[in-house]
Amino acid sequence: MPRTPGTARLAVLVSGRGSNFDALRAAIAAGQLHAEIALVASNRPHAPALARARAAGIATHASESRGSGDRAAWDRAFMAAVAAAQPDLIVLAGFMRRLDAAAVTPWLGRMLNIHPSLLPKYPGLDTHQRVLDAGDVEHGASVHFVTAELDGGPVLAQVRMPVSAADTPHSLAARLLPLEHHLLVAAVTAVASGRCRMQGTAILCAGQILHAPLQLQDDASLA
Ligand code: GRF
Repeated sequence: MPRTPGTARLAVLVSGRGSNFDALRAAIAAGQLHAEIALVASNRPHAPALARARAAGIATHASESRGSGDRAAWDRAFMAAVAAAQPDLIVLAGFMRRLDAAAVTPWLGRMLNIHPSLLPKYPGLDTHQRVLDAGDVEHGASVHFVTAELDGGPVLAQVRMPVSAADTPHSLAARLLPLEHHLLVAAVTAVASGRCRMQGTAILCAGQILHAPLQLQDDASLA
């Protein structure tokens, strides 16, 4: 996957807090993820993640998507700025805008998203509330390859956790977030290292078709 052997160039797309971006940064700093963050891009110029990226000396791009009018034109300009950073892999880490098909298609197989549900359950918003409304006993997060369908691309990896009777949307989100961080680092590592890749609508890992998403283990590996 990387052009420079061993070091994948990442573009990280964020809309807010950016704790998943921080997890990627920490994994790179720890030598766990062999990658560099070439760009942090956001559709919210005041996203806290951007300030931390700048402070860390990482290039940023920001353009407000709200009220931009022509959706396709905004997507085109935004993705042109992302492409200019020449990423090997684009990671949507809390990026809360749906990109249209024309923006996504050139990056098929090179764009990952983290979503707080056990996809294909609960694409879209309010996943924690929807888990509680459905009475699910299990919740989790997924990392999938991005396609034109919202939260609908092939799922690479998941993390699972139990839901208790006392849970609220807030408690579920708080308990899931640190698991998301481990999941995202492990999934990005799997793709950046070349171990896993998308082929058509399938995912190949170590040359084998994945018949079910990889699961995050207690030691933070994927199996
Ligand atoms: C995460 O829960 C992610 O799954 C969802 O938005 C949240 C982003 O958190 N899409 P952060 O901005 O990475 O802290």
